Amino acid sequence: MLVIIENNYDALSLRAAGIVASAVRKNPRIVLGLATGNTPLGLYRELVRLHCEKALDFSGATTFNLDEYLGLPANHRASFHTYVQDHLASRVNLLRENIHVPDGSVHEHYEEYCSAYEALIRKAGGIDLQILGIGKTGHIGFNEPTSSLGSRTRVKTLAPATIQDNQPNFGPNESVPPCAITMGIGTILEAHRILLLASGASKSSAVAQAIEGPITSTVTASALQLHPDVIVVLDEDAASQLRYRDYYERVLQNTMQLTPERVE
Ligand code: PGA
Repeated sequence: MLVIIENNYDALSLRAAGIVASAVRKNPRIVLGLATGNTPLGLYRELVRLHCEKALDFSGATTFNLDEYLGLPANHRASFHTYVQDHLASRVNLLRENIHVPDGSVHEHYEEYCSAYEALIRKAGGIDLQILGIGKTGHIGFNEPTSSLGSRTRVKTLAPATIQDNQPNFGPNESVPPCAITMGIGTILEAHRILLLASGASKSSAVAQAIEGPITSTVTASALQLHPDVIVVLDEDAASQLRYRDYYERVLQNTMQLTPERVE
């Protein structure tokens, strides 16, 4: 795991965008795994800027979103379909047919639907670069505490903390849906490369447990310790509970010297 600590959210977003942009330039037919939430907003903003000002080309790229609320139509303003459309797809030259978000409007045959989503990922050649945020509970995607570390795309019941965190995206008289379709931990771990972003003190405990704690289903992000190519980009606040940060800095310096392609 390569841990990069930036001074603030803007620097974190620039660093993350540099990594994604370099991957897109190296492989124009890249398959990206997309996360939603507040954390990657700065990353998407910067990718849009690079598209507009530096001709970053998404025309050959394919995207798969991690998750979607079950029961929300794609056009609901809090759906992750809407999020991806608003923050990335409508602003860069991704082709509509290459954008995949789990369908929150399915209402039967859930297992078949989720298997079909996984089959689409496989047909695309697997995810080259998976972008992740982390919840305060340590979840990645909607893989809530106690999710199986071998889990695949499925319907998952949201934890109370997740419902509370996401309530601001819904109206005052609207409830957060109780369930979501989410890629599983097993699905995420099959991505060739993973980029985890975290910002703010409210994430510092989850981040420390994910990076330095034991691998446990009660902090599903800790399963990333099993993956050979994970880059974690944090701001100072999110990094504040890490015990080995001096070491991470030395690892970063040496990696940049010896294998700079790992940091791009
Ligand atoms: P956030 O959500 O980026 O809005 O904090 C992260 C997550 O819950 O995965």
